[in-house]
Amino acid sequence: MERLQKVIANSGYTSRRKAEDLIVQGKVKVNDKIVTELGTKVTNKDIIHVEGKLIGIEEKVYYLLYKPEGYVSTTNDEFGRKTVMDLVPSTKRVYPVGRLDYDTSGVLLLTNDGEFTNLMTSPKNHVEKEYSVKLSGLLRKEESTRICRGIKLDTYTTKKARIKDVAYNKKNLTTLATITITEGKYHQVKKMFEATGHKVLKLKRIRFGVVTLDNMRIGEYRLVKPYELRQLRVLVK
Ligand code: URA
Repeated sequence: MERLQKVIANSGYTSRRKAEDLIVQGKVKVNDKIVTELGTKVTNKDIIHVEGKLIGIEEKVYYLLYKPEGYVSTTNDEFGRKTVMDLVPSTKRVYPVGRLDYDTSGVLLLTNDGEFTNLMTSPKNHVEKEYSVKLSGLLRKEESTRICRGIKLDTYTTKKARIKDVAYNKKNLTTLATITITEGKYHQVKKMFEATGHKVLKLKRIRFGVVTLDNMRIGEYRLVKPYELRQLRVLVK
């Protein structure tokens, strides 16, 4: 059972506010009866018409994409670059759950479930995101500690993070490491390392909550498994 205005908004017909207006104005019919009460509950068996047009409750779908570098994680790009939408089926109107930069690869979830997206991306819910990074220079212990405690960036201080599996390439003067954060601000991982003087040369998200890339190939997608969805929802409870 879902609220009528939400179902209309989720169908992509209009925003929730406008859906409410349309209901109050008597422009919405449920099973051929005009409904003007906000908050009326409907199921996927109900037939809903808005301004004479049939609206369906879209079946929810959840994809895990192994995003390659060189794709934007928006639905279209003003510069005509390739988007992650090119890599998943277009039968359902899905959207990325958060973003990965153009030059970042790895775990990206896509769904048509707006509520799920809000749950997963809300900073209040602390969903862990784990990244494998390649950095310029050799990351010193004190720098790693500063980052993990929470580091001051331009407009905010990051929450606690974890860094592990630090490995140096002393010949090329680069560092490989894994960092886990619970936020998802714009360019966050890059900014955290840059604040200690290390440029992120490569960035790959290897885990989102409980979801990992397992044996997937780059550019490949799969359905998120029901138990993974359950575990993700448990994480934010
Ligand atoms: N942090 C970044 O800097 N970029 C990403 O794509 C993800 C996290």
